[in-house]
Amino acid sequence: MGEIKRVGVIGAGTMGNGIAHVFARSGFAVRLCEVEQRFLDRGLETIKKNMAREVAKEKLTQAEMDASLGRIAGTLERASLLDCDFVIEAATERFEVKRALFSELDAILPEGVILASNTSSISITRLAAQTGRPERVIGMHFFNPVPVMKLVEVIRGLATSQETYDAVKTLAERLGKTPVEVNDAPGFVSNRVLMPLLNEAMYAVMEGVATPEAVDEVFKLGMAHPMGPLTLADFIGLDVCLDIMRVLQDGLGDPKYRPCPLLIRMVDAGWLGRKSGRGFYKYS
Ligand code: CAA
Repeated sequence: MGEIKRVGVIGAGTMGNGIAHVFARSGFAVRLCEVEQRFLDRGLETIKKNMAREVAKEKLTQAEMDASLGRIAGTLERASLLDCDFVIEAATERFEVKRALFSELDAILPEGVILASNTSSISITRLAAQTGRPERVIGMHFFNPVPVMKLVEVIRGLATSQETYDAVKTLAERLGKTPVEVNDAPGFVSNRVLMPLLNEAMYAVMEGVATPEAVDEVFKLGMAHPMGPLTLADFIGLDVCLDIMRVLQDGLGDPKYRPCPLLIRMVDAGWLGRKSGRGFYKYS
């Protein structure tokens, strides 16, 4: 396996643009691939805005920002990822979408290229099974906001090789992140533990135990969480929270993972949190 220099990132949404941001900032050439020009434009605009914020905070110089942006090439063609040494996908969190993506990437990319998924809960072992290179498929799970959060959860599928794991661990370190190794299981570690907390906070609101503001104050002041669980759920996206609860429910089969009915109702209403302007709170 040669040194990784050029990286393909699929999806320019919140996670994809954050991942492209940190790779470019760390000196990698990045191909950022989307399905529509407007999503690509929005992702590139967000990267610019977030890098400008880092310049304002003196974490990056203007020259470093310009060089980093110059290393990112947007594309609508998956075939243009052909010369990438590593590809990570942060596409829609649906198994069918990722299944099709993994089999397409497997067909077009050279044999030695590692395929990583930023999935927050879909089985890496199942994704790997869509390809002819399961030993080179791995989970590389970043956290929002990607430029700020230090963790990368590195998930081994059943067939992931030690060589692939070592390469991705080193890659995370080159990004200035701290990799933590976990094995493939529903929700991995992060969401298996975090999502039931957020879900339970929603039950507390639904049952009238406390307001969203009060629940959040308890966690901010009592447990030193930077955001209370309902602010965090809005930040992650209530649709994403519901999808992950369903993965936990299906995969682990324990009724304790039942999604809160209030969460289901809010998603049905299109109240998806910060991104839709309304969740447990209203956003202008
Ligand atoms: N890009 C670059 N820098 C950013 C940024 C971004 N998108 N967002 C925030 N920052 C920087 C700010 O510039 C600021 O920098 P300084 O420390 O130099 O001042 C720093 O981050 C803190 O930001 P703010 O001062 O604006 O606000 P804050 O102190 O309230 O922190 C926060 C914001 C970092 C988001 C903090 O509230 C936090 O850590 N929240 C918890 C986030 C969390 O739990 N994320 C994980 C979600 S789960 C997930 O992602 C995975 C999944 O599978 C669901």
